[in-house]
Amino acid sequence: MSVVIVVGAQWGDEGKGKVVDLYTEAADTVVRYGGGANAGHTLVIGGQKIVTHLVPSGVCHPGKPCVLGDGMVIDPHTLIEEIETLQARGLLGHGELLIGQDAHVILPYHRRIEVLREERKGAIGTTRRGIGPAYEAKVGRRGVRIRDLYRRERLRELVHANLDELVPVMRHYGGDPPTDAEVDRWISDALAAGERLRPYVGDAGRFVAAKVASGAHVLFEGAQGSLLDIDHGTYPFVTSSSTIAAGACQSTGIGPSKVDRVIGITKAYATRVGGGPFPTELHGEAADALRTAGGEFGATTGRPRRCGWLDLPALRLGVRLSGMDGLALTKLDVLANMAEVAACVAYKLDGKELDELPTDVDDIARAEPVYARFPGWGPLRNVRTWDDLPPATKRYVEAIEKLAGVPFYLVSVGPDRTETITLRDPFGEQRRA
Ligand code: IMP
Repeated sequence: MSVVIVVGAQWGDEGKGKVVDLYTEAADTVVRYGGGANAGHTLVIGGQKIVTHLVPSGVCHPGKPCVLGDGMVIDPHTLIEEIETLQARGLLGHGELLIGQDAHVILPYHRRIEVLREERKGAIGTTRRGIGPAYEAKVGRRGVRIRDLYRRERLRELVHANLDELVPVMRHYGGDPPTDAEVDRWISDALAAGERLRPYVGDAGRFVAAKVASGAHVLFEGAQGSLLDIDHGTYPFVTSSSTIAAGACQSTGIGPSKVDRVIGITKAYATRVGGGPFPTELHGEAADALRTAGGEFGATTGRPRRCGWLDLPALRLGVRLSGMDGLALTKLDVLANMAEVAACVAYKLDGKELDELPTDVDDIARAEPVYARFPGWGPLRNVRTWDDLPPATKRYVEAIEKLAGVPFYLVSVGPDRTETITLRDPFGEQRRA
């Protein structure tokens, strides 16, 4: 097993950062494949908190290259800030960062358009990082790529061509178009950022392919979660990229036949940020208690996350979409000290029982969750082995494993690296236990 994809199995914020950090121990290279600074990965190492938005969560392991795949949309200024913060902590040394030259660039007008759209009724509730508009430009074949930051005239032409299309849209939303001086500044800032990033920019696809061919352990890190996937998520309440495992192949140009294993990450409960359907959502005191216990506030926007019970039909959908071989269960400790824990085990829709969450938002609105209830358990933060888990906790975990249809690779009982019950080796040979 040498190529492993770690992917969010819910609506993002599943705790991928901690799992990627742990798995990087045995990896040679870590590759982030989708999205941009909409993601926020919180790592707790030696009691210290580090948040990354663009650089993969494997960054805390010196000597292991971190790659930003071509499928990403990169805000160069955010990336520079992140590089500087990480380097000030002695991380990201020479040769440890590679930025795909074909990744797309987020420019200030992407954010401006998005903010204008988000101010309107019925908005998606995005992170306002310009992700959607940058991907729109990409598929519209007018996007600015990292490589364009080294061609002054081409960049100028591209920015002006984009603005010719976007200024009427800005006006339509009641916004002010940029002045000429502002546009000139955007261009010169982008060129300067390009120069700052130049030592790290290169052919990410070839680099990753060569690593894979050499048999090195390559770990792909997904961003957001399966249910936010542009094609298969709860559209239109999704992000604008392929968040599922297939996105790793798309982003770096490696073929699906090269992937050895896919591990999904799921929390022991569910959260969602922004708008969109969330049938197991809790409200009032129950939601507040879960939010406080789990620290469920966005790492990128600080927004309080919507909280609810684990949705197993949604998890099954995530397992199918990414062909997950197994799962990592995170934040199990957050459910400690509750009188009762519930999980949605099926949906009823039009007289039928569904074992997967429907993805059409109107169907989801009509679907009725069917819950199973489990007796609660005490604190788990000191538990390090499966055998030491309280019987009530084991019953809950086993019920999830059975309904998800794939085994657990690890169970996390706290944010620190050490607060982990390891069950299977992600790079181990055995495909199924
Ligand atoms: P965008 O990715 O900023 O366009 O936002 C689209 C939707 O995806 C919104 O509901 C966001 O809250 C959600 N989203 C984007 N990135 C993340 C993430 O990293 N975690 C959780 N939700 C996210």
